[in-house]
Amino acid sequence: MEIKKIQDGQFSGKKILVRADFNVAIVDGKIQEKFKLEACKETVQYLLAQDDTKIALSSHLGRPDGKENPEFSLAALLGELEQILDKKIVFVPNCIGAEVAKALEDLAQGEILLLENVRFHSDEETNGERFSQQLAENFDVYINDAFSVCHRNQASITGITKYLPSYAGFWLQKEIENLDRVIKNPEFPATAIIGGAKIETKLPLINVFESSYSNILVGGKIANEAIDQSLKFSAKVILPIDFAQDRLDIGEKTVQLFKEIIASSKVIVWNGPMGKFEQPPYDKATREILGAVINSGAYTLIGGGESVQVLEENNLMNKVSFVSTGGGAMLEYLSGNAMPGLEALQVAKA
Ligand code: 3PG
Repeated sequence: MEIKKIQDGQFSGKKILVRADFNVAIVDGKIQEKFKLEACKETVQYLLAQDDTKIALSSHLGRPDGKENPEFSLAALLGELEQILDKKIVFVPNCIGAEVAKALEDLAQGEILLLENVRFHSDEETNGERFSQQLAENFDVYINDAFSVCHRNQASITGITKYLPSYAGFWLQKEIENLDRVIKNPEFPATAIIGGAKIETKLPLINVFESSYSNILVGGKIANEAIDQSLKFSAKVILPIDFAQDRLDIGEKTVQLFKEIIASSKVIVWNGPMGKFEQPPYDKATREILGAVINSGAYTLIGGGESVQVLEENNLMNKVSFVSTGGGAMLEYLSGNAMPGLEALQVAKA
């Protein structure tokens, strides 16, 4: 599918809405997954470098259920975003209406707006027509740089594209390039490591990799579920041969086996932890496997909250070839499922 890219647009003198994904975890006031905030940097800098542009950043945060809730206010990200983008950012306590229009009018050169959580409006998640129009009406152009929300058919991702010329930002393009590389054109041996919970959401991905990859290493809760449900796979799918206590992590023998396969791989894709990561010592196997992946010399692509959290905590982000912001979106894209956010950016067929 060919999508419209930011490089194809004209932005001088335009008011531009950039949809980013700032849906980060905030634990005891500390922002996790900061790289999700950094992802929009190239796009923002590119737009700021054009003559007389006015830029507003838009996102959701959490699942506030269509209601205003200070716990999910994007204002919490203001300071961190200012540091990352090295710009003054003005927070607007709404994402539609006169407040946004006024803030755009008053915006000084080189400053940026940050609009309040789009999910404070119930019509965001139902992709309401009127709300999509309201999101669009203060702007001339829309940029989607939120790959990790492109599996959602929501107003700020799809609905708005009916009302504004719309383009993919640089980060979104990078996600697609790197995911395409591992799915369409991998070097062999190619290994997928799949963990986490909810086997029903991971089975389509295991099946996709079964048809194209050399090895699929399965850990985490889904390994328990697969074993308990006696699910049958081809010999490429390797389930744990032992577990830690209470089956909350994969065991030492399995870690060794997985490490050997990882060491001889040329491409490695990883989504989901190997154990109950958030409760030490059940983070042990995930950390060991991560070390093996980093030292493998393979092209490595990692996505999904927990693995990314370990990378950030240990300053290992730049040791991985590509870190995807997408948890659910990465699964959907790699599984070959529809991505409404990307379809909305599709170049019209002649
Ligand atoms: C994510 O964090 O994976 C995206 O922001 C999507 O969030 P959602 O699952 O709440 O739609």
